Amino acid sequence: MGKRDAGRSRRSFLKAAVAVGGTAALSACLERFDDEEPIPTGTDDPSSLPTGQHEWNDTLDRDEAGNVVLPEHHLLLYLSIRGDGSPTEDDRETVGAALGTIERAYERSNRGAIAEIGYSPAYFNRFETSLPESVDLPEPKTLSSIEDPTFDTQDALLHLTSDRGEALLAIEAAMFGEEGDRPDALNEISVSDRLGEVFTVADRRTGFIGPGLPAANQDIDGIPDGDPVPEASPLFMGFKAGFIGNQASESAVAIEAGPFAGGTTKHVSRIRQELDKWYPENDYETMVARMFSPELADRGAVEGVGENLGESNGITPEVFDRIREHAKEYGLVGHAEKAARANRDENGEPLLLRRHVESTDGDVAALHFPSYQREISAFDRVREAMNGADLTDMPQIQQRVNNGILRYIFTTHRGNFLVPPRSLRSLPTPTGD
Ligand code: HEM
Repeated sequence: MGKRDAGRSRRSFLKAAVAVGGTAALSACLERFDDEEPIPTGTDDPSSLPTGQHEWNDTLDRDEAGNVVLPEHHLLLYLSIRGDGSPTEDDRETVGAALGTIERAYERSNRGAIAEIGYSPAYFNRFETSLPESVDLPEPKTLSSIEDPTFDTQDALLHLTSDRGEALLAIEAAMFGEEGDRPDALNEISVSDRLGEVFTVADRRTGFIGPGLPAANQDIDGIPDGDPVPEASPLFMGFKAGFIGNQASESAVAIEAGPFAGGTTKHVSRIRQELDKWYPENDYETMVARMFSPELADRGAVEGVGENLGESNGITPEVFDRIREHAKEYGLVGHAEKAARANRDENGEPLLLRRHVESTDGDVAALHFPSYQREISAFDRVREAMNGADLTDMPQIQQRVNNGILRYIFTTHRGNFLVPPRSLRSLPTPTGD
């Protein structure tokens, strides 16, 4: 096997192991990657860590154009608190110590692991006091007339990510495994407090991203036969996403005032993809038109998976301001140009920080779509712009016809979370006391 093939098979193996989960998958990884480079350990100095749990970018890899490269494997553990009522001081200490262990065990990077915990409105309902006005965290709701999602109302969402899938499995096993069947150390750091003492795992979802992984995992529901997903694509639909020029900075999504200043809000949806229509129905140029903008397609602005775009998706105000003309001239409008209309602050800077990854949970092509923004309402406005309901007065555009990528994607779940600053991440009260 060549070096490239070996790398590809290793990454796919890890992807499959994370998807399956459990101690058997963990042992299989440890056996197979016995001679692998050790995973870099974390820090004993918590003051060296960023204020916001969502501040990943400084330590993540960058591509040639300076775009942030997300770690390849993701584990989303939706957690419920054991028992009713508000958590105790003991619970708080357990969670704080458990999260501290993960941080000491793994460097906060692609090669190490990142753990981030957010809390839902349902969690804050356990308390008599309400969240302050400085936090905009409504219950999840339906965001378009053509969807009927399940609302994720578990107490918390633990988001773990790493290039080393075995690290995610080890954390999961150490934190939630049964006694007698779980590691008592993480990367040689001994584990004394476990998240499983306070939480149960109500739902387990897995994700992945990175060139080659979608192509290697396209034999699932929602993707037609014939292996249409390009090898170079980090995502199932054939393009890369998350250009730095069209992403909000981590400080722009941080809450500015009140006890949770420095934290952020996170909306997470799960979106099923029906690419058995996307690939057969569209040639490459039409895909660019539907995903970005017909104007970009006309100019030949996008090549391949979009690597040539550099640090920006090319959707400038000059492009998205002409969206109605695009509908008339080309008979369709693009996904990115629609969304961009609501994704700019008064200085023209993006409002949302998107970190979406693919999923094959249940052997169905889907996307986990975490989006960070200062206020959840900013997400709602972008989603409204993406719905394009304001464009359906034109004969060419209908809700799911010629309307970006809406013909191909179906939202199945929505949840809202407050991701507190690191200092308040263990079972915070609404007032941060
Ligand atoms: C299967 C689902 C989706 C896929 C494959 C997808 C893919 C993409 C791609 C390839 C781009 C252009 C490159 C970039 O700027 O990142 C883009 C842009 C964008 N997408 Fe999506 N997207 C999906 C769903 C969504 C959803 C649900 C939202 C939120 C409501 C959203 C919001 C945006 C925004 C805000 C932009 C950037 C527009 C700008 O400000 O320039 N996308 N998307």
